[in-house]
Amino acid sequence: MKKNITVIEGDGIGPEIIKQTIKILNAIEKKYHHEFFYEIAPAGFSAVKKFGDPMPKKTINSCLKSDAILFGCIGDPEGDKYSNGMRPEDGLLKLRKEMDLYCNIRPIVSYPSINKSPIKKNILEKVNFVIYRELTGGIYFGDKGRYENGELAYDHCIYSKNEIERIGKIAFKAASNRKKKIMVVDKANVLETSRLWREVISKISYDYPDVNLEFIYVDHAAMQIIFNPRKFDVILTDNMFGDILSDESSVIAGSLGLLPSASIGKKTPLFEPIHGSYPQAKGKNIANPLGSILSSAMMLEYFGMHKEKNIIEKAVNNSIENRICTQDIMDDLYLSSTTDEVGDYIKKYIENQ
Ligand code: IPM
Ligand code: MN
Repeated sequence: MKKNITVIEGDGIGPEIIKQTIKILNAIEKKYHHEFFYEIAPAGFSAVKKFGDPMPKKTINSCLKSDAILFGCIGDPEGDKYSNGMRPEDGLLKLRKEMDLYCNIRPIVSYPSINKSPIKKNILEKVNFVIYRELTGGIYFGDKGRYENGELAYDHCIYSKNEIERIGKIAFKAASNRKKKIMVVDKANVLETSRLWREVISKISYDYPDVNLEFIYVDHAAMQIIFNPRKFDVILTDNMFGDILSDESSVIAGSLGLLPSASIGKKTPLFEPIHGSYPQAKGKNIANPLGSILSSAMMLEYFGMHKEKNIIEKAVNNSIENRICTQDIMDDLYLSSTTDEVGDYIKKYIENQ
């Protein structure tokens, strides 16, 4: 297959992790006779400095023409200083909105050989769930502003039936191909938007009689994720709750650096690790590339390249089992590998299979 991919390295550790991911994709390309064409496009703080815009029009146009977007991470502590009202993060939000990427998929699994989770081993055994987070609505995109000389601020949370329905259908379909359990996380005891979510999702559930649907309040869900994570299969939730619960869930995997994500919707899909730009680690060759590498596996799966996706996941698991890991998931700092070494190991593993 031939695929055009827009690559957005972004800020902080973005370029370093993307470098490893491209290394892996090069190996996949050779082994399975694909052709991947990359266009590197600026975004984030680096784009603010150069073009005064965290998501330049040129980048958006490149994304629109591509089959997929491979995204590093954006954000910089200096971001506020430069901003003419636009933070680096606004660039990512703009891109999600422009591509209409309303469905964000964040799989969570536990890794038995990583000893970094503060949660007890027996609780972590065989955890495997996936968060479906609504990504282009809710409080992130509602009206926001200030009144009374800036002394009163508001953020408006708004959802339409259509916005809930379209991600709801995708999540039910996913659940029917998994353990057939869907848990909708909301705050229906307080929020009107949550009550609309319940109405709309309940209706969809009639089309999926074999999928077990439950509603759970977000405060209780936050506790259950740590207390009994095996109880979850598909979590379906809104933009803000999904953001918070996915960072919380990374404690199960052992590091935020391990978690991949896919964002799909109407236009070009985007694949990015869930972590931020980790500016303290920039240029040190210590950042964990696995979140980005696993995101590229999700991209290949989206392309219908299932063997290719599987071999990347197998290679990543092998690197973890053999403790070829960056320091965030190693007990002993002195035995840890660099970002480059992890990338090289995974690349060789794929080549030798
Ligand atoms: C994420 C990030 C973003 C979000 C930020 C960078 C805007 O935290 O992808 O989870 O809140 O969606
Ligand atoms: Mn987040």
